[in-house]
Amino acid sequence: MADFKKSVVYQIYPKSFYDSNGDGVGDIRGVIQKLDYIKSLGVDYIWSTPFFVSPMNDNGYDVEDYRRINPLFGTMEDVEELIAQADKRGMGLMFDMVFNHTSTRHAWFKKALAGEPEYMDYYIFKDGSPDAPPTNWQSKFGGSAWEYVPALQKWYLHLYDVTQADLNWDNPRVREELKDVIRFWKDKGVKGFRFDVVNLISKPGVFEDDTVGDGRRFYTDGPHVHEYLKELVRDTGIQDMITVGEMSSTSLDNCIRYSNPAEKELSMCFSFHHLKVDYKNGNKWELMEPDLLKLKELLETWQVGMEQHEGWNAVFWCNHDQPRIVSRMGDEGKYWKESAKMLAASIHMLRGTPYIYQGEELGMTNAGFTDISEYRDVESTNYYQILLEEGKTPQEALTILGARSRDNGRTPMQWTDGEYAGFSENTPWIGLPENFKTINVEAEEQDPDSVLNYYRKLVALRKEYPVIQDGSIRFIYRDQREVFAYRRVTENQELLAVNNLTGEEVTLAEPLFCKGSRRLLGNYKPVPGQECIKTLRPYESVVLIREY
Ligand code: GLC
Repeated sequence: MADFKKSVVYQIYPKSFYDSNGDGVGDIRGVIQKLDYIKSLGVDYIWSTPFFVSPMNDNGYDVEDYRRINPLFGTMEDVEELIAQADKRGMGLMFDMVFNHTSTRHAWFKKALAGEPEYMDYYIFKDGSPDAPPTNWQSKFGGSAWEYVPALQKWYLHLYDVTQADLNWDNPRVREELKDVIRFWKDKGVKGFRFDVVNLISKPGVFEDDTVGDGRRFYTDGPHVHEYLKELVRDTGIQDMITVGEMSSTSLDNCIRYSNPAEKELSMCFSFHHLKVDYKNGNKWELMEPDLLKLKELLETWQVGMEQHEGWNAVFWCNHDQPRIVSRMGDEGKYWKESAKMLAASIHMLRGTPYIYQGEELGMTNAGFTDISEYRDVESTNYYQILLEEGKTPQEALTILGARSRDNGRTPMQWTDGEYAGFSENTPWIGLPENFKTINVEAEEQDPDSVLNYYRKLVALRKEYPVIQDGSIRFIYRDQREVFAYRRVTENQELLAVNNLTGEEVTLAEPLFCKGSRRLLGNYKPVPGQECIKTLRPYESVVLIREY
């Protein structure tokens, strides 16, 4: 398979990708039917979020059985066919391994609940009285991270939903079980893995109250995480496969270790700091405009830091947990197309492996839901209640969800301007924005200037120009808030990416000389005869190259 440094990954959320059997829920056969479309983007790998047997309280991130397919999505034969059909088209499947926790419906947890000591040791059970959880740690979905089991007179840890019990990675048997899961899917021809919140797997030896935070400092990048990852990778023989760890609230130093090839852990990391620049006081549920200087500074620190220490970034704006980037940092109105293209280019020319999340390549926007009944996500519905308890009015809480809910990224893929955007013949499990009439695959296929075709160009450029794959990176116009710009350099190529992050025209602090350079891409028509760029139009993005 393709070298991960030269690759682009397409992410699918199967529940919302394409519904082949008309039940309103996307499925595996739906993905198979759309493989030619995915191939047409030029991507090398497809990462699918989980479709294993699950009660779906967290849409499949609550796994009941790692080796069986949820009938909602299809059968094992469908999955085998998906792998084979993708392979035939030169694309590899990456599966999503949720190994920090299982569903409380998993057979292991059921045995633990029945009091079998061997299985209780698969999870994190602590003694305590019913009215005092072992620590004050908070669940990422709101409320305490502990749940009391009266029959056992113990509490169990759940960093996420109460139905997602954290596994005890200090137990070697747990680690062996999880290795077997990897081997199972590897034998089926899976070409890579994404590991869900994998930097949270190693919990501290002592559980204590967090007097300054929600507990994350005790278990994030925990004491044995590097050791456990090395062991997992070594014993399953996946060193040469593409692997990406989703790293929650991690640090640059840890991500260097996770992804530096000498450490033999993972190919690359997802980190999220750059997607918190619009969290007021670091709180996702408090709105503010994105702090662009902070965004630039964070991306620079991570890009340069990873390069200097041979780490590797997954570069992305969108996934199934994030609101749509064009709604968040671009413009849903007048400059919709320009801003979607600028945001795409600003990420795709970086050093790292780009990930495209389904619908991002169309410039899909947030959902536009106005009623709490439209939301499906457990985090969103929990936080709606929490926000009301904190004294927000329903309208205020809905405005916050409108910007921050994970459901914004989970609305059905917009295929056509027909009913339900061509996603399904029947009412989809979740609603969709009205703009599917204009923002859809069919319309964008016909428009050479579409966002979709721009993404295709970006993917193709990465294949064509080694400087995009492995050039060094240095940032320019660093103090200019509106301008996100960098130079990528190899021995014989120099690439310049200049982006206006705002909807205002900006004058560059210094003119940018383009003489001797060729324009590779831009989201506006070039100004005829222009020898240097002095101003950037709203959301303008230009990519230039010079070859020696
Ligand atoms: C990751 C997943 C998210 C899920 C959580 C718990 O962050 O991307 O969707 O809710 O882990 O598994």
